[in-house]
Amino acid sequence: MRILLIGPPGAGKGTQAVRLASYLSIEHISTGDLFREHIDQGTELGQSARPHMRAGLLVPDEVTIGVIEERLARPDTERGFLLDGFPRNLAQAEALDGILADSQLPLDAVLVLEIPEARVVRRIAGRRLCRRDREHVFHVDHSPPEVAGACDVCGGELYQRDDDREATVRKRLEVYRSETAPVVEHYQAQGLVTAISALGHVQEVLDRALVAIGHGQVDTSGTSSC
Ligand code: AP5
Repeated sequence: MRILLIGPPGAGKGTQAVRLASYLSIEHISTGDLFREHIDQGTELGQSARPHMRAGLLVPDEVTIGVIEERLARPDTERGFLLDGFPRNLAQAEALDGILADSQLPLDAVLVLEIPEARVVRRIAGRRLCRRDREHVFHVDHSPPEVAGACDVCGGELYQRDDDREATVRKRLEVYRSETAPVVEHYQAQGLVTAISALGHVQEVLDRALVAIGHGQVDTSGTSSC
């Protein structure tokens, strides 16, 4: 399957993307994670992305579209992919439409996570990520690690993203409203969008997402509270 996951910052895209991609055995591709990897590795691309990310702004399209084009050209995407955080404006959506049309690989679904802004501010304020593997995401209240400051999965150090300060989060929300909301309309016009509530337990949101893409429900044990 080829799926887009759209939603405001802190809606739980990364949390759900990891689970959906694993359940469907498809690649999880997050532009935010790709940029953070480049920043950690000190690449030129990372250096050009960093100031935009720290300011809560979009990284310029020529950089972002190039990154996604290169990533989608890799053979591991042949069995399917879930794009988390791309496209984020109409230019990116049109570029993606072109890439997928050229490869004759149409999208199957666009999932939109809906959540009130006050809730995302709380989710982001408590988020902690593992330095060794950014897919290991915790929340100080909703899904705390067993040992404070350490990843349950690999023992890596937990840290807070430098764009998770409240002023930057407000800017990211503003950018979502002005630039990304039109992307939802773009895919609504193609009949691909299903919007689901991002409120509730992680597993409840996952169940809604699976139903939305026609995969029914999975085991609801092991939930984390909201
Ligand atoms: P990116 O990394 O994509 O960030 P984002 O879209 O702002 O989203 P977040 O990662 O903040 O949140 P999320 O929805 O993944 O939530 P999560 O699952 O972590 O982008 C960062 C920056 O990179 C951008 O600002 C931009 O500069 C740049 N960028 C990226 N893509 C770009 C593009 N296409 N074009 C240009 N620039 C781009 O959950 C949040 C917290 O809530 C966690 O602590 C989690 O444990 C908790 N949580 C999750 N679900 C639940 C639940 N159901 N109940 C309780 N807690 C929950």
